[in-house]
Parts: sequence; C-alpha cells; structure tokens
Amino acid sequence: MKVDTAQFVISAKDLEACPASSLPEFAFIGRSNVGKSSLINMLAAKKELAHTSSKPGKTQLINFFKINQAWHLVDLPGYGYAKLSKSKQQAFNRDISAYLTERTNLKHIFLLVDSQIEPQGGDLSFAEWLQQCGLSYSIIFTKTDRSSEIQVANHAQRFVEELEAWALQPTEIFYCSAKTKKGRGLLLQWIDRQLPKKPKKKPTNRLNLDWMQR
Ligand code: GTP
Ligand code: MG
Repeated sequence: MKVDTAQFVISAKDLEACPASSLPEFAFIGRSNVGKSSLINMLAAKKELAHTSSKPGKTQLINFFKINQAWHLVDLPGYGYAKLSKSKQQAFNRDISAYLTERTNLKHIFLLVDSQIEPQGGDLSFAEWLQQCGLSYSIIFTKTDRSSEIQVANHAQRFVEELEAWALQPTEIFYCSAKTKKGRGLLLQWIDRQLPKKPKKKPTNRLNLDWMQR
C-alpha cells in the first residue's frame, strides 16, 4: 500500500472524546518508550506526525491519524510508566481499556515489544488481557536496528515461547525498526489486506446512440 496522505485528526482523552467515525482503525499499544509514536511516523512516512521523545510518558492521549482518507492509525499512551501517580494510572487503565474493548471500528491492535530486552511479564500480561477480551492483536518487535540479528531473534524466540506457555495466540508477528524502516512494507501490506475492498467500477450499461446523429 502506498501512503498518499497522513493527517492528524484529534487527541482524545477517553472513549467519549474519540471522533465519531466508521473508518477502520488500527491501534498501537505497548510499554512506554517502546517506539509506538516513532513506528506510526515511519508507517506514515512523516517524521513529526506523532510526537516522540527519548523520555518515557510522552504520549498521554489517544491520538488519531487519518491515512489515505480511508483508515485510522491510533497512537495510544504507553503502559508501565513508573512516574504516573496512582490516580492517573487508574484513569489510564479505565480509559485505554474502554477504548480497546468498546470502540466498534477498531479492527486490530498491535502490541509493541522491545526487541532489545528479555521477555517482560508486563507485556505478556497485556497480551493475555487482550486475548481474554477476545480482541484481535499482533506482536511487533521494535527497535531491531539496536541489537544484532542474533540477539533480536533470540529475544523474539523467547518471547514467543512465553506466549505459547501462556497459551496466547497473536494473529501475526512483525519485526520493525523506525530507524531503518524495516518491516514497513510488510506491515502496510498486512493492514491493506484487512481493509474493505473498494468496489470495482461497473461497466456502464447505458446504450450510446451518439453515432446515429452523425
Ligand atoms: P510513549 O509515548 O512515551 O509511550 O513512547 P513511545 O512508545 O511512543 O516511544 P517513542 O516513539 O516516543 O520512542 C521512544 C524513543 O525510542 C525515542 O527516542 C525514539 O527515537 C526511539 N526509537 C523508537 N523507535 C526506534 C527504532 O526503531 N530504532 C531506534 N534506534 N530508536 C527508536
Ligand atoms: Mg508515544
């Protein structure tokens, strides 16, 4: 899929504030600083579409981006941000879980996992929660440019083994780097396949008698 247009739509604080839209949505969730906003910019091929930061906790709202006037990319705040107060943490859990479980046009969730580190209990628990809710989700291993291929493969394999041990079955597994654009083509192609097919132009069946006038 070619991305022709990518626009910021709105930042919503909770489900009620989300735009009334029936466009198919694809949401990105994961630990704070895992690279969600960077990946969205990489997919959209727009450097500063979503705000990124080297400090965790940058994205605090539900951010909507419209792609090709046809579907939404949704950038969510990260979980596991230690500096969040307890009440903010509870509000985050309530608002994000309401968005993920009740947004009717949400087609798929991408759970981002840092390929540089050992499997983390928090990521596995999140995947377990998605599955318990009956939500459709895939895993994206991020920042693959930061470690050797062997190390990425090793961490990914161990994460997948943990998923199996927890009886978790994501739809797909992707490997991405926002820096090198690794995985961009495959991810966009996969999203494209989930979008409703555009109706083919019907051949016109109107009889053309212009030639009789000549
Ligand atoms: P929050 O909004 O705080 O939850 O973070 P986030 O998951 O949106 O992460 P963000 O995209 O802001 O990236 C965090 C940091 O990781 C930034 O310094 C990015 O430049 C860096 N980063 C993200 N993706 C990659 C990547 O693929 N490769 C490298 N080398 N750095 C990356
Ligand atoms: Mg972010």
